Amino acid sequence: MGTHRGSRIIHHQRETRLSYYKRHVFFCCNQREPPEACCNNRGATEMQAYAKQRIKELGLSGKGRIRINKAGCMDRCDEGPVVVVYPDAVWYTYVDRHDIDEIIDSHVVHGRVVERLKI
Ligand code: FES
Repeated sequence: MGTHRGSRIIHHQRETRLSYYKRHVFFCCNQREPPEACCNNRGATEMQAYAKQRIKELGLSGKGRIRINKAGCMDRCDEGPVVVVYPDAVWYTYVDRHDIDEIIDSHVVHGRVVERLKI
């Protein structure tokens, strides 16, 4: 019994470490010089800030919840702008705030992948 309980605690600690955030979202905000394609020329920094603000307004920021980060180039420039949601490792592209809202409301909050925006 004691051993069983001990292993459950270790298991729990490992899960906690792997899941510091429930979902961790990375927006590529890299800027490259024209004519190279880059996410930042397609509104990435503005959309990252918008997403971060929305998560904050929803009261979902912080440990065990949701984190919205900027990232450097993720080498999918021609498919951009790109955003990736971990731990699910699902990649999206987006055009506007409507797309960001859908990614947040469907996937980031409820875990439902937005097929139409997947890359
Ligand atoms: S500039 Fe965004 S993936 Fe390269």
